[in-house]
Amino acid sequence: MAAALLLLVPPVGLLAALAFLTRPRAARIPLKGRHVFITGGSSGIGLALATAAAREGARVSILARNAARLDDARAAIRLATGQDVGVHQADVRDAAAVARALDEAGPVDVLVCNHGVFVPQELEKQDMEEVKWMVDINLMGTFHLIKAALPAMKARTRETSLPASIAIMSSQSRCSMRLFRTTFMCR
Ligand SMILES: NC(=O)c1ccc[n+]([C@@H]2O[C@H](COP(=O)([O-])OP(=O)(O)OC[C@H]3O[C@@H](n4cnc5c(N)ncnc54)[C@H](OP(=O)(O)O)[C@@H]3O)[C@@H](O)[C@H]2O)c1
Repeated sequence: MAAALLLLVPPVGLLAALAFLTRPRAARIPLKGRHVFITGGSSGIGLALATAAAREGARVSILARNAARLDDARAAIRLATGQDVGVHQADVRDAAAVARALDEAGPVDVLVCNHGVFVPQELEKQDMEEVKWMVDINLMGTFHLIKAALPAMKARTRETSLPASIAIMSSQSRCSMRLFRTTFMCR
């Protein structure tokens, strides 16, 4: 019995050491002097993130559809932080417009895909056109952004040896999550 226990010690010890070494750890991404690009930056959480990043000394760009709200956001951030932010008017559903905006903004260090829409309704009562509208903005819009931003982000990381980061804002209310939950409950 004791011999069997002794035989177990090395593999269990090795597994414990591997689990410790590969544990998820938060990476600290320095923002000062770096380019932070935030979609949905004209309102709510995106505007708060843009203000916080500008306050930390980042070069901030924000993207949304409504030009007047983008201008209001730029003025509010300038008032709060003294920093000027770049504004880009585009609909994330339009891949070409997203690529143009990222081109204008220049290489990004931190991409925050924060844009999002949601129609609160039970799936069985929801119109499929509404579902498609949410998927096009929330999901496909995020693919358009990452696909357009990634090559320059990778090149910049190689140049600077500094970490880059992509954050995707989610929500428990998102239709994809509700679909998943429905599937789960039906099992
Ligand atoms: N607020 C919450 O309690 C909560 C909770 C969980 C998760 N979230 C998630 O957090 C994110 C921000 O939420 P929020 O409440 O701060 O949102 P919000 O105030 O409604 O702002 C949404 C932003 O996304 C932009 N946007 C919407 N559709 C767009 C499109 N097609 N193309 C480009 N930009 C678009 C809007 O600007 P335009 O309309 O001018 O385009 C706006 O700047 C969302 O992804 C949301 O799902 C929010």
